[in-house]
Amino acid sequence: MQIFNTVSEIKSVIREAKQNNKTVGFVPTMGALHEGHFSLAQRAKSENDIVVCSIFVNPTQFNNKEDLVNYPKTIDKDTSALKAIGCDYVFIPEVQEMYPSEALLSFSFGSLEAVLEGAHRPGHFNGVGIVVSKLFNIVQPHRAYFGQKDLQQFAIINRLVIDLSFQIELVCCPTVREDDGLAKSSRNMRLTKEERNIAPLVHKTLQATKTALRNTKDVETALEEGAKEISANSNFEVEYLQIIDRFTMQPLSGQYDSEIPTAICIAAHLGSVRLIDNIVLE
Ligand code: PAJ
Repeated sequence: MQIFNTVSEIKSVIREAKQNNKTVGFVPTMGALHEGHFSLAQRAKSENDIVVCSIFVNPTQFNNKEDLVNYPKTIDKDTSALKAIGCDYVFIPEVQEMYPSEALLSFSFGSLEAVLEGAHRPGHFNGVGIVVSKLFNIVQPHRAYFGQKDLQQFAIINRLVIDLSFQIELVCCPTVREDDGLAKSSRNMRLTKEERNIAPLVHKTLQATKTALRNTKDVETALEEGAKEISANSNFEVEYLQIIDRFTMQPLSGQYDSEIPTAICIAAHLGSVRLIDNIVLE
């Protein structure tokens, strides 16, 4: 496995691989890697000749300075794990390499970002759009792998690929969880022991909402049940709990229509950590 810090180096090895008719799978990350990230890299490995991962804590997508400063960094551990998986190239640029000057271009994803994460983290998806566009232009992969854990991010990147005519196949990989249901996340390592013990309530809330939706077939009643579940513990501050159309991201209301591709999404603060999760209804 080779590690590169510059755009020109990573471009040159990928150009060579493509000249040799190799297919390229790409996994963009911000590091502090865990089994969720590894599952993406493993999937990429099984579907492509060459796997490229990037590790870049992208400043433009953080609307909270403290979150950016506290974002965990475990580069040595990350690179040895990627090597063990069989990743071929890791791209680890400095901020200056990705942003030689501040980006003036900005993205708006309209209704797709007016809800959920977009509504609560102004500018977040603009930053994601910019960095993912840059990375796609640099790596030019055949396939790119993202997690369902960030469902709205996937919808936004899917739109980016359509609107900017990127010739890239996007793959959405299932959320990897701890045994107790907590979605794996780089931010989980910032939870205290007590917080870690109660954190699975986020996933339990999604399950309770789903069960209530199946039983009552009423969106508002299901959301009330979910809210009851999480409010049983006063340590959580819920930012949103919503039942949405998983492709348009728009909130549903009234009678539940099982024909609509549905997801339940939640964001909640637990101490200083913001947890997000979702489940997709089959
Ligand atoms: P990051 O949070 O590091 O996540 C990288 C990829 O791993 C994303 O596609 C995310 O959805 C996926 N992922 C995270 N936790 C997961 C889990 N428990 N199961 C499955 N997949 C999981 O998302 C970003 O970085 C950034 O926004 C990025 C796309 C790299 C742009 O900067």
